[in-house]
Amino acid sequence: MSNVYRFDRRSFLKQAGIAAVAGSLGTATSIQAQENGASRSSGSGYDFDEIYNRIGTDCSKWDGQIERWGDQLRIPMGVADMDFRVAPCITEALQERISHEVYGYMATPDSYHDSIIDWNERRYDTVIEREMLLDSPALLPGLLAALRAFNPPGAKVVMQTPGYNGFFSTIRKGFVIEENPLREVNGVYEMDFDDLDRKLAQDDVHTFILCNPHNPVGNCWDRATLTELGELCARHNVIVLADEIHCDFVNAGHDYVPYANLADDLVMNSVTFKSASKSFNLAAFKDAYLFSHNPEFMSRIRAVGDNATINSLGIIASQAALEEGDDWMDAVQVYLSDNAAYASRFINEQIPHMSCNQPEGTYLAWLNVEPLIERIGAVETAAAETAASGPDQDEVTPEAIVERYLIETSGVKINPGSSYWGSGRMRMNLGLARPLLEEALGRIQSAMQQA
Ligand SMILES: Cc1ncc(COP(=O)(O)O)c(C=O)c1O
Repeated sequence: MSNVYRFDRRSFLKQAGIAAVAGSLGTATSIQAQENGASRSSGSGYDFDEIYNRIGTDCSKWDGQIERWGDQLRIPMGVADMDFRVAPCITEALQERISHEVYGYMATPDSYHDSIIDWNERRYDTVIEREMLLDSPALLPGLLAALRAFNPPGAKVVMQTPGYNGFFSTIRKGFVIEENPLREVNGVYEMDFDDLDRKLAQDDVHTFILCNPHNPVGNCWDRATLTELGELCARHNVIVLADEIHCDFVNAGHDYVPYANLADDLVMNSVTFKSASKSFNLAAFKDAYLFSHNPEFMSRIRAVGDNATINSLGIIASQAALEEGDDWMDAVQVYLSDNAAYASRFINEQIPHMSCNQPEGTYLAWLNVEPLIERIGAVETAAAETAASGPDQDEVTPEAIVERYLIETSGVKINPGSSYWGSGRMRMNLGLARPLLEEALGRIQSAMQQA
């Protein structure tokens, strides 16, 4: 545990009301989770309702945010990981490995790669040959390797906004962000192909980053959209880098279409990036993979990538998950889908000054807080704070004012949409136990009733 930050878990939980919530479901919410039915804990055999304490483990989502915001922070819904215990098969595999107490250099076993190949074929009909597959120490380093393989320094990289902030920081390591804004039509996001056509036509554009399912807006792009996108990229000789790290989180009624399952000519113009780490909550282990059906692409990435072996405990954990974690994954998908249905309904029906669409995939909700921004004068406060801060300081955004306001009035932390280039929006992580979700929404509801 960290020496810098000593935290009294018991007292925090008590103050937060979390212990009480764990004992009973009596929260401020009036909509009960009718959608959950048998899926909620009992049916699957996994108790996702359990409030599992992560405080004091140096985790970014809880400890990092409590360190930043202090005791007023009660329920963090920011960093994109889940609060559930991992699938039992993962713990068993890790326990077995750590019972052997030597951790010297290790090779990556074939069985690990087989587990990736089998998972993709079994669950998504995606065929991956071993020679197409490359390990990556987390997803973003693999993406950066691909950017370096396909772009000269200073090239423009097209990505869609609102977009995952990790793309911004990765592109900036030698390249320039070229934005293709998504269009919001009646609250639903869609791709703007006219704008994309213009952006892709530029001489210094060689790569396009696709996010499917999309963080943060939650779209699962359908086959027709992906095909149109792919044809446009192929026409302009622009390689598609498909980040599909959220692919295992698809809400009821929606589908994930792997880019690698499109027509052959489009697939040959792409590289896909994935990991078991998002699906099974193993982000700390830093293991991911990428693959392409195009051998030339693979050899160009291999030439510049970090080919060091990946994290050995992560290999054990990921392999166990991919080999034996199907039923846990199925159960958590249903649970999170119910969380999304519950949260969007509650927000739209019960919470003033904000609204949200039900995400199609990911466990992230994308909230429209424009009325709240107006209500609390966040634009003016942000401008005043920006003017008062030093010239090297980042601009204070209205969404950052909303973030602080919500923490101060409700104790709930959600991420400013401006971090994803989304104005008037906030991102809420729904990867938590339902009683805690109910508690968080109840807290926001009370705060908003007084705003
Ligand atoms: C779309 C997307 N890509 C990549 C990542 C980061 O993956 P990694 O930690 O494996 O680099 C995230 C994390 O939230 C993400 O949402």
